[in-house]
Amino acid sequence: MYDRFNRKINYLRVSITDRCNLRCTYCMPAEGVKLLDHKDILSFEEIVEIISEAVGMGITKVRITGGEPLVRKGIISLIEKIATIKGITDFGLTTNGILLSSFAARLADAGLHRINISLDTLDPEKYRTITRGGDIRMVFEGIEASKKAGLTPVKINCVVRNSSDEPDAQDVREFCLKNGLEARFIHEMSLTDGCFTIVENGHGGDCQNCNRIRLTAGGMLRPCLFSDVQFSVRELGIREALETAIGQKPQKGSVNVTGGFHNIGG
Ligand code: 5AD
Ligand code: SF4
Repeated sequence: MYDRFNRKINYLRVSITDRCNLRCTYCMPAEGVKLLDHKDILSFEEIVEIISEAVGMGITKVRITGGEPLVRKGIISLIEKIATIKGITDFGLTTNGILLSSFAARLADAGLHRINISLDTLDPEKYRTITRGGDIRMVFEGIEASKKAGLTPVKINCVVRNSSDEPDAQDVREFCLKNGLEARFIHEMSLTDGCFTIVENGHGGDCQNCNRIRLTAGGMLRPCLFSDVQFSVRELGIREALETAIGQKPQKGSVNVTGGFHNIGG
């Protein structure tokens, strides 16, 4: 489906939980955030139905996000169900990698194509500080397990303050070169300031060529990360919500004060 600005919308990002096992400083306050009630979280059946309908309307690329998607109970059976939908040519998942070593093989078996892992530094102490407690060794194990499972190309999402010339980002770049990983550098953004730039080596933040819409764990379709516009699939019905979200996609992003990375999935 095309939007008003003749952009072909073929990419759906699906946040399956607003929960996370880390508290990255640029994403969440230390005390965490108010979480959705269980009844407001989309069921697996609803998620599969929404993705199926979206694929029928021209979506070919699906990415599972969070929060941290691997903390949602039953994730493997959800991945299996989504993988059977005909018409998805690119099926990925974004994770912080903490639980990945025990999930990678099962995710691949379930039909996931590839994986993106967040890693902003190689320094265990800095990692612990940025993520407020994360153990970087678990991420390294997750990366290895993903390569072994064939969830390739394994991409690394590295959030930078100002530029990828920063020492931590340089370290991550070198690590990726050595280990056959693709590095992408995401500038730290503030949704409420409307301050965003393009992702180096990726596609995010390029409004003119934006091809994506987002589904939140609570069942809201969001046509733009940098906008408060959202449509409820439960209130409008799936097809109507999808058509409206694509139809209302803004030409370019501005500000978002009603949602964060932790529930829209970055
Ligand atoms: N700015 C840029 N990227 C962010 N992410 C989370 N919060 C921010 C922010 N403020 C990214 C994470 C992860 C993805 C899910 O979103 O690094 O790679
Ligand atoms: Fe969790 Fe990702 Fe947010 Fe970090 S950036 S707190 S890993 S959702």
